[in-house]
Amino acid sequence: MSGLEGRRVAIVGGAGFIGHHLALALVERGAEVAVVDSLQVNNLLSIQSNITDPERRDLYLRMINERLDLLREAGVTLVVQDARDYSALGRILEEIEPQTLVHAAAVAHANRSNKDPFTTFDHSLRTLENALDFSRHSSTVEHFVYFSSSMAYGDFLTPEVEETQPLEPMGIYGALKAAGERIVIAYQQVFGLPYTIVRPSALYGPRCVSGRVGQVFIENALLDRPLVVRNDGGGILDFTYVDDLVAGLLLVVERPEARDEVFNLTHGASRSIEDLAAVVGDLFPGVEIIDESILGDPLMPRRGTLSVDKARRLLGYEPEFPIERGIPEYVAWYREFAGVPA
Ligand SMILES: NC(=O)c1ccc[n+]([C@@H]2O[C@H](COP(=O)([O-])OP(=O)(O)OC[C@H]3O[C@@H](n4cnc5c(N)ncnc54)[C@H](O)[C@@H]3O)[C@@H](O)[C@H]2O)c1
Repeated sequence: MSGLEGRRVAIVGGAGFIGHHLALALVERGAEVAVVDSLQVNNLLSIQSNITDPERRDLYLRMINERLDLLREAGVTLVVQDARDYSALGRILEEIEPQTLVHAAAVAHANRSNKDPFTTFDHSLRTLENALDFSRHSSTVEHFVYFSSSMAYGDFLTPEVEETQPLEPMGIYGALKAAGERIVIAYQQVFGLPYTIVRPSALYGPRCVSGRVGQVFIENALLDRPLVVRNDGGGILDFTYVDDLVAGLLLVVERPEARDEVFNLTHGASRSIEDLAAVVGDLFPGVEIIDESILGDPLMPRRGTLSVDKARRLLGYEPEFPIERGIPEYVAWYREFAGVPA
């Protein structure tokens, strides 16, 4: 029997890309999961109003609806609520009585965050503060899980970073992630609220609508358009298939060793964007790859590998999806979903 059997987990921002995958995996292992999400940020409502190309809009709306269908079929409770509203969030969480509270709500995009810091602060830190404050008063919450990011580090000082590298973020997104980490740790110091901070990076996988490079390459390849490589941040990233991250998150929720710790949770091996383009290109013979590398964007840190040794050692984390395995899985899913035969 899994240690997750019967565990009550609430995920704020759980209708997002990571959140819904985590919710489904938790249910499979016997947990009782509830999701609180406004469906407004990088989700149903923003896609409806912001994406003008009708084909792309319909495709992404179908992906979000599939997320919601899967959650419903799995028996996950979905409460549509803006987590910026402290009282409303508190009332909902009180009913859910979570033992683990996972905070995944954010504007999860560096460029969008820099363009609109006010909104980003609200959706990321205001919601975090609300969830933390509920947790410190709650008699049920035993563990708080927070999503930071590789962007909290700023420039990687070595090709592979351990969790101990000092945080020197650049730009709004990284600054808010690093600030969130400090606030989560402060709640542990002041109120004794046990936490885990996870730092993922460069995720890809089914039902992602965030427009990261892997998704863009696959969508262009499906339309027989070239894959344009733009190395605006050094071009080396620890691309992580969502199943690897979710496997790590299950360990984080289950294992006591995860408490009061910070973990890099990635595939644990960086690759160039050229490599990624080549792996996608191999699945679409004839697709053109164009190199348009430009001078580095000063707000995009030079990244690389996030060492997952600590997660391996303390949690038994074993990532399984290099891009040579994860991208073909993702492409197979995308072809079927979009109705484009191989
Ligand atoms: N996807 C990645 O590559 C990646 C990498 C590193 C860190 N992260 C972090 O992981 C977390 C989840 O990322 P994701 O990729 O699933 O993002 P996502 O945009 O897919 O999901 C975020 C969800 O939060 C919800 N949300 C935002 N503001 C809200 C509010 N005020 N009230 C209620 N719900 C709200 C949105 O509706 C959305 O469903 C974020 O904190 C992100 O910064 C993601």
